[in-house]
Amino acid sequence: HIPEYVKIVEVGPRDGLQNEKAIIPTDVKVGLIKLLVSSGLPVVEATSFVSPKWVPQLADAKDILAAIQNVEGARFPVLTPNLKGFEAAVAAGAKEVAVFPAASESFSKANLNSGIEDTLARCRDIASAARSFLIPVRGYISCVVGCPLEGNIAPAKVAYVAKSLREMGCSEISLGDTIGVGTPGTVIPMLEAVLDVVPADMLAVHFHDTYGQALSNILISLQMGISTVDSSVSGLGGCPYAKGATGNVATEDVVYMLNGLGVKTNVDLGKLILAGDFICKHLGRVSGSKAATALSKV
Ligand code: HMG
Ligand code: MG
Repeated sequence: HIPEYVKIVEVGPRDGLQNEKAIIPTDVKVGLIKLLVSSGLPVVEATSFVSPKWVPQLADAKDILAAIQNVEGARFPVLTPNLKGFEAAVAAGAKEVAVFPAASESFSKANLNSGIEDTLARCRDIASAARSFLIPVRGYISCVVGCPLEGNIAPAKVAYVAKSLREMGCSEISLGDTIGVGTPGTVIPMLEAVLDVVPADMLAVHFHDTYGQALSNILISLQMGISTVDSSVSGLGGCPYAKGATGNVATEDVVYMLNGLGVKTNVDLGKLILAGDFICKHLGRVSGSKAATALSKV
């Protein structure tokens, strides 16, 4: 059994562009976001309010939000690691935020300079501040099956962080295979453990495609009742604090598969491919999407 509708959360402008070596001009990022919205994507993660010393690529977060303030048709969540980031995001006009603890202690320290418990405490501070602004908070969990520093991650660790995020009031919890090492063999037991503590309709899956396993992992997630999928146009992305991690699964490939399954997304694949062409031309590289590459030849 597969859901009739899948909500795609486009993370290219954030997860994709955070990992580019070159600093991309703000107007190019804004142009990309507008093209993504016009393809019908319901949620476009716009940027992060993180330390510009840690992620210089997203230092223009405030300008991005100002430029898309009047863009209609999609929601634009932003990443916030601490109250400082949350306050800056709200001041800049953010209406949704995301916190991002990890299931791995070592990765948590590498990515956020704080361990899992200290990070969860910061997330709790953000969640309670967000409640007073009626701002929904998405909770990401990084390293849900594997960690670049610790190797395999036990499903119970992921379930623990998921339960904590749910208890602090997160509206959605996105399970991230940050380095793309998962296969259905590891993803299924992880999802089973998380589904014991969080209902399927609150969960999203976030697969990076480093080992080419993302579509298989998405398919089994759909079969287990999850109907929110994160992806990145043209497969842009990675995590600057996870060496070797490649981009997220390409949104074009996800839409192509869902179209084939008869699952509604409301995304126009042709328009989405134009958004991918726009950013790939700017970056001077070929698309990481197999569907976009194939369709450009027919
Ligand atoms: P820290 O160095 O411990 O921070 O970093 P601090 O509190 O000691 O402050 C140091 C400096 O940073 C100070 O400035 C602060 O004001 C400033 P200074 O006095 O030196 O000039 N600062 C900030 N500036 C702007 N915005 C802020 C902010 N906070 C402090 N919010 C910190 C701790 C959390 C800030 C840092 O580690 C950080 O920004 N990390 C973010 C890393 C990141 O963005 N990683 C990628 C996203 S996660 C991901 O991609 C995975 C995901 O896709 C899921 C998956 O794939 O699995 C979500
Ligand atoms: Mg990611």
